[in-house]
Amino acid sequence: MGRPFYITTPIYYPNDVPHIGHGYTTVAADFIARYHRLRGDQVMFLTGTDEHGQKIQRVAQEAGQDPQAFVDEMEPRHAAAVTTLLQAVHDNGRDDIYKGTYEGLYCVSCEAYYTEDELVDGMCPIHGRPVERMSEENYFFRLSAYAEPLLEHYTANPSAVQPEVRRNEVLSLIRGGLRDFSISRTSFDWGIPIPWDPKHVTYVWFDALTNYITAAGYGTDEERFATYWPALHLIGKDILRFHAVYWPAMLMAAGVEPPRQVFAHGFLTVGGKKMSKTNATGIHPFELIDLVGVDAYRYFFMREIQFGQDGSFSQEALEERYHADLANGLGNLASRVLAMLASNTEGAVPDANDPAEAGKLPALVDEVVARYDEAMERLSLTQALAAVWDVVGEANRYLVDRAPWALAKDPGRRGEMEAVLYASAEVLRILAVLTFPIMPAAAGKLWVQLGMEEPLEVQRLPESARWGGLKPGAQTARGESLFPRLEA
Ligand code: MSP
Repeated sequence: MGRPFYITTPIYYPNDVPHIGHGYTTVAADFIARYHRLRGDQVMFLTGTDEHGQKIQRVAQEAGQDPQAFVDEMEPRHAAAVTTLLQAVHDNGRDDIYKGTYEGLYCVSCEAYYTEDELVDGMCPIHGRPVERMSEENYFFRLSAYAEPLLEHYTANPSAVQPEVRRNEVLSLIRGGLRDFSISRTSFDWGIPIPWDPKHVTYVWFDALTNYITAAGYGTDEERFATYWPALHLIGKDILRFHAVYWPAMLMAAGVEPPRQVFAHGFLTVGGKKMSKTNATGIHPFELIDLVGVDAYRYFFMREIQFGQDGSFSQEALEERYHADLANGLGNLASRVLAMLASNTEGAVPDANDPAEAGKLPALVDEVVARYDEAMERLSLTQALAAVWDVVGEANRYLVDRAPWALAKDPGRRGEMEAVLYASAEVLRILAVLTFPIMPAAAGKLWVQLGMEEPLEVQRLPESARWGGLKPGAQTARGESLFPRLEA
């Protein structure tokens, strides 16, 4: 079944309209998951919604609904995982969970307390809304005991938080001192009860973060858990502290291995502003998908914004890249080659595989496959796609250079024309394989247009990218254009 590979996205709050920022993490994770399937790994990809606690209770009340009805059935499997985890920490003999009184300035939207100096003009620094003074009896998790173990863990495993700028941020957070945090509430009752004291319900992190191990079988299916855990967590940089400080400490306290890697990507802005519903900068993914389609949407965000850094979205950039890389790049390459085959060989792939006639393409493909792998391993998603588009560029240059349309006019050069058409179709086949993870629908269409018999889903890297895989005689067909030009 291949190497197990487990990747997660954050769980999204269901009480907000999704925008392209939420889509960003999911697209990246889906791209990575599909790439690993292409490598033959046994992939588990987890995403979902964050349906817990006070925030949902309030939204449900506002909507005149019961919180439970609002979010469907609470999953018994998740309650089992949370209970097992809490009990394991509670029983670890180090008193890592203890009772205390919490008092602080609380933002309902963040579900977090703030210190005076964290506020901006007395308001929540994230939401700009007033905070409330709250006090109650809570259970606390002794995060302060985990500074040393966390530093040791991150020193021994430098790739456990990436990119480097985020790793440094985490190290300085830890070195700056860690405060215990509260893990239960008595002020509301909708949630998973603390197993040894059920008038408390689990609050936020022991519920939300635990979703990552619930789905892998923690507390319910140990064999599955042993197969998939530890995971790669893909997150936005806003929730780094919780994933790279709280979560590994919680797991260590329970005797569970910390995540394999936490990778925090940057934030998308629109017109230099944070996206939100209130300032009209929150763009719903469907607005852009209606314009360019899902494949181009996926490609654009991964190619345009250096993965790991912040990036500004603009519709001009989307349209420009759509035309340059997709309509004129891959799309035009495919339509020219398929048209040449249709008019010169009745669509049949000529029996003319001659790498010596294929210019730089065979060597470039080998080199790009290696670069693609190496970039995907580092999660340099932008570089991985840039590598693949080097092949698109070279293939278009090769066509112009060898001009099979000119060769077609000279019966004496029939053999040469066939070799050029074979090479052009072969490079398209390899491009369909390489682009499958980022644009599954377009790659699938291209695959069918090339008359491939084996499904694209069963292709594997590196084998399927080896030069010469295209079978002579395969019946290609001009189909609809992969990336039609956008209307002005
Ligand atoms: N529910 C918590 C996460 C709990 S994980 C155990 C949460 N949800 S959220 O819906 O507010 O945001 C989820 C994620 O969406 C962010 O961490 C980030 O990955 C992504 N993004 C939200 N806005 C974003 C941008 N403007 N840009 C890029 N990603 C953004 O936080």
